[in-house]
Amino acid sequence: MFEKETIDFYKKLKQEEVKNPGPWTYSPVETWKIDYFLKNLNEDNLKNFRRTSLSEGLISFPDRPLKYESGVLNPWIKGLPLWQKIRGMRDIGVELLRARKKIEFKLSDINDNLVGNPCCYKLGKNNITDLAIRMCFYSKYLEKEFSGINSVLEIGGGFAALSLKLANSKKLNIKKYVLVDLPESLALSYYYLRNSECDIDKFVIVAPWMLPEVEKDFDLLINTMSFQHMSKDNIRYYFNQIDRLDIKNLYLVNRDTIRDATDTKISEYPIPEKYKLVKQDDYPFSKHIMKIYSI
Ligand SMILES: C[S@@+](CC[C@H](N)C(=O)[O-])C[C@H]1O[C@@H](n2cnc3c(N)ncnc32)[C@H](O)[C@@H]1O
Repeated sequence: MFEKETIDFYKKLKQEEVKNPGPWTYSPVETWKIDYFLKNLNEDNLKNFRRTSLSEGLISFPDRPLKYESGVLNPWIKGLPLWQKIRGMRDIGVELLRARKKIEFKLSDINDNLVGNPCCYKLGKNNITDLAIRMCFYSKYLEKEFSGINSVLEIGGGFAALSLKLANSKKLNIKKYVLVDLPESLALSYYYLRNSECDIDKFVIVAPWMLPEVEKDFDLLINTMSFQHMSKDNIRYYFNQIDRLDIKNLYLVNRDTIRDATDTKISEYPIPEKYKLVKQDDYPFSKHIMKIYSI
C-alpha cells in the first residue's frame, strides 16, 4: 500500500530541493542515489525495497543478498542461494550473542516488520534480521539510559526503522519524532511508516533544508552511522542547528576511524560547548563508539 503516495511525496521533495540549495549536502557516499532513485523508484521496487538497491547503504548482508544483477528484479527475490543462507544464519547467530552481552531481550523483541519484503531468518514464529537485532539493541539501550523523553530529532535515520521501534516503546512514551534525512531515505521512511503499525501522527518528516524552520522542543538527538559519512561542513550545519534547538541530550553512534576517504571521525565533530560528555561505550556489533552528551 501507499506506493503511489510515496512516489508523489518523493517527487514533491525533489522539486522543493531544487528551490532550496543550502549549506547541507549529500554525503559523498550517497550521491549515486540521486540518479538511481529518479530511475528506479517505482511500485514494484518499493514493495521489495529491502532486497533492492533502494536500501543499499541502509542495510547490508545478511539482510540483503550479497550479489546483484544490475537492475532491481534480482534473481534472489524468491529465495537466497543456499551458501548465502548458511552464511546469513551464522552472521545472525553472532549478532544475537553480541547483543546478549549488553542487553536482555526476548526473541519476540527482534521480530522484524515485513514492510519492504526483507530477507528474514525464522526462529520459531519470529522473522529475524540483522536490522531488527540492532534496532532492538538501540531501543533497549536508550530505554535504560533515558526517561522522560517526549520528543526526538533523528538525523540520518535511514528508512525509519529505529524511529518506529522507539515511538512504539511504552517505556519511553515518545510523543513527537522528527526525522531529518535526504529525500531518498525520507521517501522510504514515508513508505515504511505508512505501512507499519504506529501512531503516524507522532512523526514529522523534515528535509535538510527545512530544519532551520523547526521549533525548539527536543529531549533527544539521535545519529547512528550517519554523521561519519558527512563532510565537515555538513556536520557543522547540523551541529549549528542542534545548538539553536537546545536539544537536551545527544546519542551518537559513529566511527572514530576513517573507512572512506571522505569520512569524518566522531572525535572531530564540532560539539557545541554547552554539551558535556556523560557516557562513552562500545557498540557491540562493530568498531563504532557510542557517546551520550547532555546540556
Ligand atoms: C549508513 S545510513 C545509516 C542509517 C541508520 N541510521 C542506521 O544506523 O542504520 C546513513 C544515513 O544518512 C543519511 N544522510 C546522508 N547524507 C545526509 C545529509 N546530508 N543529511 C541527512 N541525512 C543524510 C542517508 O540518507 C542515510 O539514511
